This record gives sequence, C-alpha cells and structure tokens, in this order.
Amino acid sequence: MTAEHFFKAVLLALMVVFVSGCRQMPDRDTDGRYVIGFSQCTDDLWRQIMMVQMKAEAAKYPEIELVVKNAYGNTSVQIGQIQEFLDMNVDLLIVSPNESEAVTPLAVKAYDSGIPTIIWDRKIMSDHYTTFIGADNYKIGGDVGRYIKSILPAGSTILEITGLMSSSPAEERHKGFIAEAGDKYSIYSVSGDWMPGSARDEVLKIRNYEDIDLIFAHNDDMALSAYDAVASVDRESAERISFIGIDALVGVDAVLDGRLSASFLYPTGGDKVMSMAYRILSGAKVEKRYDLATALVDKNNAFTLKAQQEQIFSYQEQINEQEKNIIEYGRRFRSLKSSMVIVLVLAMAVIAVSLYALRLNIRLKRKNGILAAKNAEIEKATSDMLEKHAQIESRTAERLNFFTNITHEIRTPLTLILNPLDNILKKEKDLDLQHDIWIVQRNARHLLKIVNQILDLRKVENHKSTLSLSEIDIVLFVREILTYFEVYAKTEKITCKFSSGISGQMLWIDKDKIEQVFLNLLSNAFKYSHKYGIITVSITDNGPSVLIEVEDNGKGIEKENLPRVFDRFYSLGKSGNYSTGIGLHLTKEYVEMHKGKITVDSIPDNYTVFRVELFKGREHFGPETPDTKFLPAAHENVFPGESIDESKVREMIGRKYDYTVLIAEDDADILAYLSRELSENFSLISVSNGYDALKSVRDDSVSLVLSDVLMPGLNGFQLCSAIKSDISTSHLPVVLLTALSEPDYRLYGLAEGADAYISKPFDMVFLKVKLIRILEERRKMAETFSRKFSRMMVQDISELPCQDELFKKKVFDIFEEEYDNSEFKIDAMSGKLGISRISLYRKISSLFGLTPSDLLRNFRLRKSLSLLSSGKANISEVAYTVGFSSPAYFAKCFKALYGMTPTEYMNGGKIDFSSN
Ligand code: FRU
Repeated sequence: MTAEHFFKAVLLALMVVFVSGCRQMPDRDTDGRYVIGFSQCTDDLWRQIMMVQMKAEAAKYPEIELVVKNAYGNTSVQIGQIQEFLDMNVDLLIVSPNESEAVTPLAVKAYDSGIPTIIWDRKIMSDHYTTFIGADNYKIGGDVGRYIKSILPAGSTILEITGLMSSSPAEERHKGFIAEAGDKYSIYSVSGDWMPGSARDEVLKIRNYEDIDLIFAHNDDMALSAYDAVASVDRESAERISFIGIDALVGVDAVLDGRLSASFLYPTGGDKVMSMAYRILSGAKVEKRYDLATALVDKNNAFTLKAQQEQIFSYQEQINEQEKNIIEYGRRFRSLKSSMVIVLVLAMAVIAVSLYALRLNIRLKRKNGILAAKNAEIEKATSDMLEKHAQIESRTAERLNFFTNITHEIRTPLTLILNPLDNILKKEKDLDLQHDIWIVQRNARHLLKIVNQILDLRKVENHKSTLSLSEIDIVLFVREILTYFEVYAKTEKITCKFSSGISGQMLWIDKDKIEQVFLNLLSNAFKYSHKYGIITVSITDNGPSVLIEVEDNGKGIEKENLPRVFDRFYSLGKSGNYSTGIGLHLTKEYVEMHKGKITVDSIPDNYTVFRVELFKGREHFGPETPDTKFLPAAHENVFPGESIDESKVREMIGRKYDYTVLIAEDDADILAYLSRELSENFSLISVSNGYDALKSVRDDSVSLVLSDVLMPGLNGFQLCSAIKSDISTSHLPVVLLTALSEPDYRLYGLAEGADAYISKPFDMVFLKVKLIRILEERRKMAETFSRKFSRMMVQDISELPCQDELFKKKVFDIFEEEYDNSEFKIDAMSGKLGISRISLYRKISSLFGLTPSDLLRNFRLRKSLSLLSSGKANISEVAYTVGFSSPAYFAKCFKALYGMTPTEYMNGGKIDFSSN
C-alpha cells in the first residue's frame, strides 16, 4: 500500500466517522453552545488531514458545534458560503480563502460584524480578522531556494510550478524562492493552481526536458504529477531531473523512493486552529498571527518523519477509535436518552392511567358502595318476601293440615253414625221410620264420600297417592259399577243404557281409583238428569286404547264453563248442593295418573258426554309403577289366603272369649261404642289415655291392647313402644286404631312393633275378627310350644316370638342354675327376673302355655332323662339331683309327662319326642 493509499484509507474511515458527527446548518444555540463556521477552500489530502485534526480537536469541546462548508476550489461558491455563515450568525468564523483578494470583503464583513474570525493557511488582503494561523510561505520559498543551491550548480535550469497565484501561499513561496535563488538559476515559472492535473498539463506542454535540471512544485501533489508526466515522456530525464515539492505528506514516501529529492514540511495545523477558536470563544486574548514551523525533508530524515507520521496516524487512529466509541456512546446515550424519554413518557402515561384507574376505582367503590347498599336493601326485601312467603306457605300448610285433620275427625263420627244406623235399619220394622233412617244413612254416606274425596285429593296434591295396578276387564268393571245405580235409576225413572263394541278388554288399572272415576261420572250424570232422562254408558275399542263414554241428556254445561269443569273447587251446580268442585278434579287427576285422557262435551239441555280414554298394556306407566298394592287394604287381610266365609265370621264373632282387651281411646263416644261392641266378645278394660293404658298392662291381666294413635300425652305409637320394650309386657299384642290412614303412619305403627293397624272408619265386624284372630293365633302358638316343650330338648327351644328371645334365655339360664335346688321356687325367680310374680305368671303362660311352676317341673324332668339313661344313679338319687323333694312325686310327674315310669325308661323304654 502506498502512502497515499494509506492516508486515503485512514481518511475515508475518519471521514465516515466525522461526517456523521457533523450537523448541517444548525441554528445558533441559546443554551451556551457555540457554532463555529468553517469555510474550506478546497478538498485534497492535505486539507482532509487538516479537517480530521480540526474535528478531533473540536470533539474535545462538546459545547462547540463545527459546521464545515467546502467550496471545492470555487471562489464564488466560497463567498456564498461565507455569507451563509454570516446569515447563520455563527459564533466564530474560520476562513481558508481560495483566493485572497476575492474573499477578503466578506471575511472583513464578518469580522467587522463582530464575529471572531480566524484566517488560516491562506491570507486575505486586510488585517480585519482576529488572528492568522499558518506557516511563513515566503520563508518556505526561501528555504527551497537555499536547499537547491546546496544540490544544484549555479546556472542550472529550474522549472517552477506554482500554486494558484491569487492565493497568498503561491505568491509568497514564489517571491521567497526567487529572492533566494533567482539570480543563480534560470527559472521558468508555470501555474499549476495547486492541482496535480494542472501541473501535469503544464509539464506535458514542455515536451523536451533535456534542458531542465530541477522541477520545483509548490506542493507534493504537483511535484509527483510532474515526475509522472516527465517519466511518461522521457524516463531518463525523469531520473536525471531533481523534483522538489512542499507539504511532506505524500511527499515523504516519494523522497524515500527517490522520485522527489526533497519536500518541505508544511503543517496542516487543524488542531491548532480548533484550539485557537475555543480560546477565542472562551474570551482569551490572542495574537494577531501564529506561525507554524516548517522543515526540510530529504533522504536523511524522510524515514524518521515517515515513522513519526505513521506513529501519529496510529495515535490518530486510536483517537479516532475513541472518538468513534464516544460517538457510539453518545449515540447510545442519545438513544438511551430517547429511550428514557420514552420510558419517562410511558411512566407518565402509566402514572396518568394509574391515577385515572385510581379515580375510577374510587368512583367504582363509591358506586359499589351504593350498589351494595341497594343490594342489601334488595336482599332484605327478598328475605322479607321469602320470610313472608314461608309464613304464608306455613300458614297455608297449617290451614290445609287443619282442614285435613278436621276432615279426618269428621270421618270418625260419621262412622259412629253409619255403623249403628245399619243395625237400627235392620231391626226397625216401622216402614216410615225405616225410610227416614234410610235418608239419614244415605246422606251420611254422601257426606262420607265427600270427606273421602277431600282426603283423596289431599293425597294427590301431596304426591302421596300412588297406583296399585291390577289387570281388570274394563267392560265387566264398568258394567258392575253401573249396577250400583240401578235402584236409584228405577226410583228416579231414569233409563240407564249400556253398550259395548267389545265383549271384554283387560286393562292395567288401579281398581279403586278407576272405580271412583266412574262412580263420580255416573253420580254426576244422575244428579243432573231430569226425570225420565237417559244415561248411556258406551265402551269402544280405540286401537291402542279403550274409550268409555258417559252421556246424559240432562241440563248440561254452558259452553263458557266447559274449560273449567275439571278445575279444583269449580262447582257445576249453581246451588252448590253437594257440589264441592272436588269430584271432577279428582276424576281427572286419577285418569291422568293412569296416563289416560278425559274430555267433556256438552250442549245445555241436550246432552253432556264425558269421554275417558285408557290405554292398553302397561308400557305407558313406565317401569317403576307397582302392580300390586304395597300395603293391602285392611279388609283384604283378615283371612289371608282364605275366602271370607260369612257363616264362619258370624260364628266367630257370636261368642265370648276368655281374653281381656285393654281399650285406650280418648274420644268418649268411640270408647263407648267400642266398649259396647267389644264387650260382646271380650272382657274389657277401658282407659282414656296412654299413661293409664301403660299402668293397666303392667297391673292387670291384659291379653291385647287396642289403642287409638292420636291421644294426648302418651300417643299410641309411644304406648306400643313402651309395651314392646318392657320384658314383662313385650309379649302383649298391640292393635293401633286411628283416623290417620296415610301409608307412612301405618309403617310407623308397624315399625314400633304394633301387631296390626286399623284405620278409621273401620268396620266393626272386621275389627272384631281381626282381634279374635290375633289372640287365637297367640294362644295356638303357646299351646304348640307347651306341647313341644315337654318332648324336645331344652336347648332346642327356639320357636318363641323374637321379641321375647331375651326373656326366654333368662328363664332357662335361671332354670339351669337352680333346677337341682329343691328349695328354688318361682317367687325367687320373679326376683331374679325383676318382674312381679303375676307378670311372670302371665308372661310365661302367654309364651309357653304353661304356668311357671309347670315349666320348671318339666325342665327338671327333662334333666332327669340323661341321668336315668346313664345308669349311674338310682331313681331316688336322680329325683333329688333334679330338685324333687320326693321320689314318689318325681315318678308321678314323670309318668304324666312321658307316659312311662322312670323304671320303665331306665329299662330301655323309648319316649316319642315327635308326637304332639
Ligand atoms: C493544499 C495546498 C497545499 C499547500 C497549501 C497552500 O490546498 O495546495 O498543498 O501547501 O494549500 O495554501
């Protein structure tokens, strides 16, 4: 790499750096920063180096901004640019004039306008400037002359290539040179304008160089260009002619390689200019002129200079590197600054948003507070409403319960009216009276029907009504129901017609409910029919269903009333007589429980027809509907597995039994009624409350307890529970009697250990049969046990009612301990069991069919069997061992029980344990 290339490469890098660091045309700052305007005349290597120095120096002063304008050798451009600096009102002006005279007026103008002005390298033609910095060009011209004199004989020919003669260095160098060497040599001067191209042109114009001994150019660029030009024409002359230049930049290499004989150091001094500018701006007093030193560079010192220059360039490079870093840091700083600005702006935005959010939050909180208060109000209102609703519901429930209970209570006296009425009617011979009684009976039955309907409706409403399905021939069934009305129809002269398109059809129905449906539809038809009216019941097959129509030609229903006839409590009859508005509603509910349909159609005084559609099969009920009744109706369970034989019943209830029935009933009328009826069959103890009942069962010889459930104090369930949990009374059968016929109550009664549960209104015959049945079964069981006991092994006794298991075990444990003790008596046993002697007697008799003494005696006899068969003891010893005080009595008892004497048994007699 040549020195020129090296310099250019370095410069290029430096320029890239610094161009980015310079701003174009900034406004003058008001914040203490300075703007320095530099008007550069031209652009070559020397000036480029100078610029680098300037900028490097300027970088030391961050408050200084250097603005450079280059005229590229054009004087008028330079004048214009200086004017621009003036317009900018720069703080300081540096001018390196291209041509002295032309630039002078503007430089002076600047200075005169108060702008400190530094004239650099090339002079102006006035002293109106602050300071001049540059080398002494006249002296350099002289130095060149003196050097030539040392190497070139006088009389030799010299070609002088000058710089631009209108610029002061060219003029001064020429004058100094001529003054020193003009008289010794033949000197020809040509103008090269500082530019290598001009110098080359001038040299090539000469063509013949044989007469030329030395060429002196005002700078190295022109000297080397001249060398190249001569060499291109005449190589020999080029080698012979001495070439001398000025600047000692690219010239140093040329001196070293011999193209130039010498060069003269012409300092660029950019750093000096910059520091001087700073001093002036800082207010320091400065000299009018600063000379920069010059020096001869020839073969003797060129190498040293080059080394120095390279060293300087290396430093310069480092400096530049630092500068680059600084610039980079600056850039980063600025970017950080702008980032910081962004961050700050963002932070401010965040703060602003936060403040806004805070404000919103406060507002929201306030609003929330208001809303919360409103919510609380609403909640309170809601809870008040709910409370009121609950109150209303509970009051409604209370009222409905009251209503239901009252209805239940009506049923009981109705029973008391209807049952005796039957008897009276049977006995009464007077026909008129019979008729009156019949009317009373009919009305009481009707009342009972209404009461039952109300209770049924309550069941449906409480979802407690369930279906108990069985398969019934609907044709036969409906026909049978129709027969109930035959007598009435005859009396009222109403014609009843029955027609069926099918001979029979089995349907899955709840018999009781469908019966009620048709009873109700028919009684309505009869009720609203006129005398001589016609009622038609027809059945038709409707494919998947059966259609049953009940039609009358009575007074009918107004069209506007038709949609409401099935509504609850909607009464058809205007008078309201017997029309509760329940019957048709319940009818519809029952039909719909069967997944069927019921409709009505009517034209007043023409016809009314109710159509009931019931489906075949049982898929429409779904899988969960039961087909058998989960609790059988009371009358169906009197004789399980047997058909009711009326003569048997009559025989059964027609005699007196040796049982004492305890009746607990708080209603005096019912108690009287029950007492009167039951006294025909049993001995009775009557009490009006649970406590008396409990006392009585403990003290008296009671066989069965018949108790009402709803009694003040101790109710029937509690009484039953108390009886069943006391070992001395647990064997007593308990029958509960109540107006409450809900399945739940029945279950509860049974769970408490009741032996039967009978709901009011009850059929007296049924009640009697039920009581007799229970007592007789008990008796039979005790007898069976008594018989079996005498024959089977003691340890095998396991057929006692389970509630008396505990009692049984205790009895036999005591017998086991005491049987060998002849002194052991039943009195001691009642003490051990903690029950009275009489209770023990009753209980053992009830459970085993034997008196306690008989039971103990049989136990002892049983024990004797193994002793006798072992042959280890004689009869007397055995008798005493098993607790008999007399062997003769033992033998007597043994024979009575086992049918043989102890001796016979010892001799191998076999007792038949299997016979009863
Ligand atoms: C650069 C230059 C130098 C010379 C100086 C004189 O422009 O031509 O070579 O020494 O100017 O002003």
